[in-house]
Amino acid sequence: MNDDLGRRRLLNLGFSAAALALASCAAPAEAEPAPKTPAAPPRGPTPPAPKLALAAAPAEKQLVALPFAPGSIPGLSEKLLTNHHDKNYATAVKKLNEVRAALAASDPDKAAGYWSEFGTLKASEAAARNSALLHEFYFGNLGGAGAPISPALGAALGARFGSPAALEKQMRGCAQATNGWVVLALDRASSTLEIVQTEGHAGGAWNAESLLVLDMFEHAYAIDYGPAKGPYLDAFFKNVHWAEVGRRFDAALARG
Ligand SMILES: [Fe+2]
Repeated sequence: MNDDLGRRRLLNLGFSAAALALASCAAPAEAEPAPKTPAAPPRGPTPPAPKLALAAAPAEKQLVALPFAPGSIPGLSEKLLTNHHDKNYATAVKKLNEVRAALAASDPDKAAGYWSEFGTLKASEAAARNSALLHEFYFGNLGGAGAPISPALGAALGARFGSPAALEKQMRGCAQATNGWVVLALDRASSTLEIVQTEGHAGGAWNAESLLVLDMFEHAYAIDYGPAKGPYLDAFFKNVHWAEVGRRFDAALARG
């Protein structure tokens, strides 16, 4: 058998190039065993992924501590970060728990357009929930000054945006345009990386996973920079914890 032709046939039968490389180092004097046909995959649907254990109701939301010392982020002061965490984020958590408790006693039959207690509480629940979670993502992706982007994430950013610098340019554009959230997300609807820009807390993209979250509410920078977004963005991008962003990316891909 012509060596190249035989190699191509083995590869077609499912043998990996690595396996063939190993095989080529084995005792050359013996006859090469006839390749076995790989077993057919089992018929039927793909086995389901492990199921999420559903809870009967949301647990009381707990405050998550800052994952870094608030005085340790160059360009974002201790006062700013402490205020942001202990007041803005903590209020979202507190209000989420209050709203959910109030909803338990609110009558959906009395819901209506314009205003109703039930409808207002449901809108407030979405806003407080998103605010609490997005703040946790935001604080979680700060504190990594100088850390490199993982090869896998770097390749994905390059394929989608051209380069990490091009991603930053687009996120900065979104940041200048909104007073809400700017989120690099893995969009499962399109199987792509997308930048999501929101006004307020209640919006966002469904069926997408947050990878890199940027808070553009004034409370995220006004203590240090007044109304100037540019210097805040400089500080933010210098302090992105790319290892954490890469971990989120890897985890999202692993979930399928
Ligand atoms: Fe915030």
